[in-house]
Amino acid sequence: MFKAEIAKALSEATGLDTAAVSDMLEIPPNPELGDYAFPCFRLAKTMRKAPALIAAELAETVKKPDCVGKVLPAGGYVNFVLDRGVQAKTVLEKIRTEGKKYGGSSEGGGRNVCIDYSSVNIAKPLHIGHLPSTVIGNSLYRIYEHIGYNSVGINHLGDWGTQFGKMIVAYRLWGNRETIEAGGVDELVKLYVRFHQEAERDESLNDQARAWFRKIEENDPEAMELFSWFKEITLKEVRQVFDMMGIRFDSYAGESFYNDKMDRVVDELREKHLLIKDQGAQIVDLSEYKMPPCIILRSDGATLYATRDIAAALYRKDTYDFAKCLYVVAYQQNLHFRQWFKVVELMGYDWAKDLTHVAFGMVSGTEGAFSTRKGNMVKLRDVLQASIDKTRAIIREKSPDLEDADGIAKEVGIGALVWSMLYNGRIKDVVFDWDTILNFDGETGPYVQYTHARACSVLRKAKPEGDPDYSLLNDDESRSLIAALGAFPDAVKEAAEKYEPYLVSRSVMQICQAFNRFYYEQRIMTDDAALRNARLTLTEAARDVIAIGLNLIGLSAPERM
Ligand code: ARG
Repeated sequence: MFKAEIAKALSEATGLDTAAVSDMLEIPPNPELGDYAFPCFRLAKTMRKAPALIAAELAETVKKPDCVGKVLPAGGYVNFVLDRGVQAKTVLEKIRTEGKKYGGSSEGGGRNVCIDYSSVNIAKPLHIGHLPSTVIGNSLYRIYEHIGYNSVGINHLGDWGTQFGKMIVAYRLWGNRETIEAGGVDELVKLYVRFHQEAERDESLNDQARAWFRKIEENDPEAMELFSWFKEITLKEVRQVFDMMGIRFDSYAGESFYNDKMDRVVDELREKHLLIKDQGAQIVDLSEYKMPPCIILRSDGATLYATRDIAAALYRKDTYDFAKCLYVVAYQQNLHFRQWFKVVELMGYDWAKDLTHVAFGMVSGTEGAFSTRKGNMVKLRDVLQASIDKTRAIIREKSPDLEDADGIAKEVGIGALVWSMLYNGRIKDVVFDWDTILNFDGETGPYVQYTHARACSVLRKAKPEGDPDYSLLNDDESRSLIAALGAFPDAVKEAAEKYEPYLVSRSVMQICQAFNRFYYEQRIMTDDAALRNARLTLTEAARDVIAIGLNLIGLSAPERM
């Protein structure tokens, strides 16, 4: 809000366009210097003047917006210090009037954004490696809704491939319905592992598997019954984990959903003269773009992962007419996405530019973090449960009298995990460590939830009434809290633009740290009624924005902890 006004004034004074100015505006590391700083170094080249001179002149000529108290040149920068009274009133009134919508906008205009995330594989357990995609996707889902889009969450199930033929053979030879119904995905995995062991000795098993997979392709009733059942078993378990995390999908249309939509892709590619034959396979040559070819059909006529992704993109465009379609998938699949995005572009679809691979790094554990099982195969559910149990123990110690401690341990334990995945840029590898993520005083989910609960507890004692005198909020702690609250909307906007939920987490963290300093340094329940009311208003605003931020990151906001 202030940034836009300052950018407008600077744009008038410099002749640069507002968007460019807005991008250039910085928030000085030291708030003493000002709330916004405009660097003049780039202008120095075109204006052929020293940056400091430009800054000095600009500080004189720029028309001071109402929200600004002082404009000061400092070296090559023009610093803007907001008028404290105006800042407090504007920020706090905005939070009060917008309520749960604060930090959002109507930018999306109700258009659809498809978000392909989590995308689990059937007959395989949901493991720790699925956590980043699941939580980044879920957070982007919420962030996009907040800025006025309609998010469509899609779990592009990995439910196609020759492994399902193997599963059927294994089940028919060694499987038992009751055992699987009771043991779930673990039992399916055991069968799969056994298949591979036995197939080393008995090659004919692989032939049988191919035959069964062909039956699936041909819609044979017996094959289909088993195939759907494996899917059901897996989804039942997966849904329980998503429920624990408060995550839901709008669609579970996975790879097999596109079986009858593959011909269209192949025909269209052929008509557009993009398909060429290469050693029996049908490919799209991408050498001009310095990429290996995108294989569309194998020599035996089978379609591939990429073919299905192209079919899915066409289907999603037809069905949702998306403004954007995001793929929250590990960076290992970079090439895959670059290749088929290029194919869609070559097909002549200008919306290829709206497809974005939102890549992320890997999760690994510190020594002992995943002690019981090795590496990647740590089941997500076990990690969630471990986090809940550890949190329960901490709560038992810290707040022995807490009501519904089990429910709160669940919200905080899961929140701690989710937060730890969303506190750094997504491309950074995450090293997982219990002590760090469960530290109630660190930069953690529990710390944020605790701060929210603290604000709730203050407001249980007294509530703000009527219009406060905002000018009373002029101490340092109140001011930096107000500044942090005021910065939240830009953080949300930028998080959406860059597909980086951590920008929201960082903003929420700043609010929490500022609130705690305010809480310790300034007496909220002071005898001075006007001051108390102003401070309660600020406390309420902090509580509300922290709750919004937690929700955008995918954490719940318990009122007591
Ligand atoms: N199931 C895939 C995997 O585990 C991820 C699918 C991602 N989504 C997509 N549309 N390709 O690697």
